[in-house]
Amino acid sequence: MRAQPCLGPATTVADAAPAPPCTIVIFGAAGDLARRLLIPALYNLAARGLLSDRLGIVGVSRNVMPDEAFRDTVRAALRNFATDAVEPDVAEALLGRLFHVAGDFADPETYRRLTDRLADVAGRFGTDGNVLFYLATPPAAFAPIVRNLGASGLTREKGGVWRRVVVEKPFGTDLASARSLNAELQTVLDEHQIYRIDHYLGKETVQNIMVARFANGLFEPLWNRNHVDHVQITVGETVSVERRGRFYDATGALRDMVPNHLFQLLALTAMEPPTCFDADAVHTEKAKVFDAIHRFTPEEVATNVVRAQYGAGTVTGKPVAAYRESLDVAADSRTETFVAMRLLIDNWRWAGVPFYLRTGKSLAARRTEIAVGFKQAPYPLFRNTPVERLADNVLVIGVQPDEAITLQFNAKVPGPRLRIDGVRMVMEYKDYFRAAPSTGYETLIYDGMAGDQTQFQRADYVEAGWAVVQPILDAWRARSGDGLAAYPAGSQGPREADDLLARDGRRWRPVS
Ligand code: BG6
Repeated sequence: MRAQPCLGPATTVADAAPAPPCTIVIFGAAGDLARRLLIPALYNLAARGLLSDRLGIVGVSRNVMPDEAFRDTVRAALRNFATDAVEPDVAEALLGRLFHVAGDFADPETYRRLTDRLADVAGRFGTDGNVLFYLATPPAAFAPIVRNLGASGLTREKGGVWRRVVVEKPFGTDLASARSLNAELQTVLDEHQIYRIDHYLGKETVQNIMVARFANGLFEPLWNRNHVDHVQITVGETVSVERRGRFYDATGALRDMVPNHLFQLLALTAMEPPTCFDADAVHTEKAKVFDAIHRFTPEEVATNVVRAQYGAGTVTGKPVAAYRESLDVAADSRTETFVAMRLLIDNWRWAGVPFYLRTGKSLAARRTEIAVGFKQAPYPLFRNTPVERLADNVLVIGVQPDEAITLQFNAKVPGPRLRIDGVRMVMEYKDYFRAAPSTGYETLIYDGMAGDQTQFQRADYVEAGWAVVQPILDAWRARSGDGLAAYPAGSQGPREADDLLARDGRRWRPVS
């Protein structure tokens, strides 16, 4: 029997009203992010009737090209990267709203041209002067663009007109650079104008973590140190460094994944219920989680954090070269492609409950999940029976590729003898909801236009996240050996990560 939603059809973003009138300005309009994700996401929003009919779009890039040539590049992006069949009418209507401004992001002249273009687009479509600037550029361009936007008066809000800036990741490379980027942005913009992206917050399964926890009376009473034994958060990837060697070799798995994506999953799992669903209330609770995470001493880094790099191997049947042999990666690179850690959150809810986090490239499988392991039932009831061990009670929130919530518990095996086995109760999204294919950016762009910052990151908690990671970076830099372990591509990760849990008498769930 196919499961049905208990309350009728589910509400999705498609049920929302069209976003308010505005112009979206995409800096880096010719880049990978814009072509692969932003343009297809804008198309999806258009196809679902979620864009205003008073919308304009201006792409800014270094390439000198007339509007028509820019429209051709967008047409090609839709052909190559749309998530669904493209309806020509919808696409052409969207393309008719597209314009291009060429120029260097550091050149004030670019912003004079942009100002003229914005006035023209506002007049043509009646955008009310509202602008969403989207910085889909390398991070080095964030501060110069914002400085120039400010200097040319483009960030000024008056008479109900709004001006907002969406900033992509990575937001800093350590605590000091994150602080200085925040300071730079805040000299020009007010916090309510800054939308710091973490694309994990655009994933439905990630947004559902708060709903699963706080819209149900069932889980929350158990969600604490009295009942939870430990939590495992895994972001396993099969992809290797691919063509991103230059960026990745200077970055590593810790900076690339932990203070952003893994910490978002951690915060949503560990936070207290906010007083309401308002952005500030949610951000405040997330910030408290990061503030409460125990800061490692250098000695604790050595025993609680594992870093490793993949060697040659086979991933899902295909041979993969060692990380050091990848394009733009140093032959003697000591950059980690895998990181695992054991964190403690020093607050009343979580004192003493380990949170194990791990992420790695070129692992055996792609799997992102949060597994909440509950304490065992007391044994005495089953003394003097053939029952030797009970399966763990685990609630698994599957983020990708399996979008599911699974509860593992014990059941009696039918038959005259008392035998017990672990069984699973599974809620798969696809059985309940028929969501249209999406890039994951639709909600984020829509929220940016609608002025909802809930699924974006606030300055203080970005810094609080980096403050947790900074002692790890410091310890790695200071230690004579940086403790780099190895794992073959296509494996579960390094043995040292298994040892991290084995010391506590626990095991990782398989990445499979
Ligand atoms: C990015 C990282 O932010 O997230 C990549 O820079 C990583 O290295 C990617 O592969 C993972 O995103 P997703 O949505 O594929 O899990």
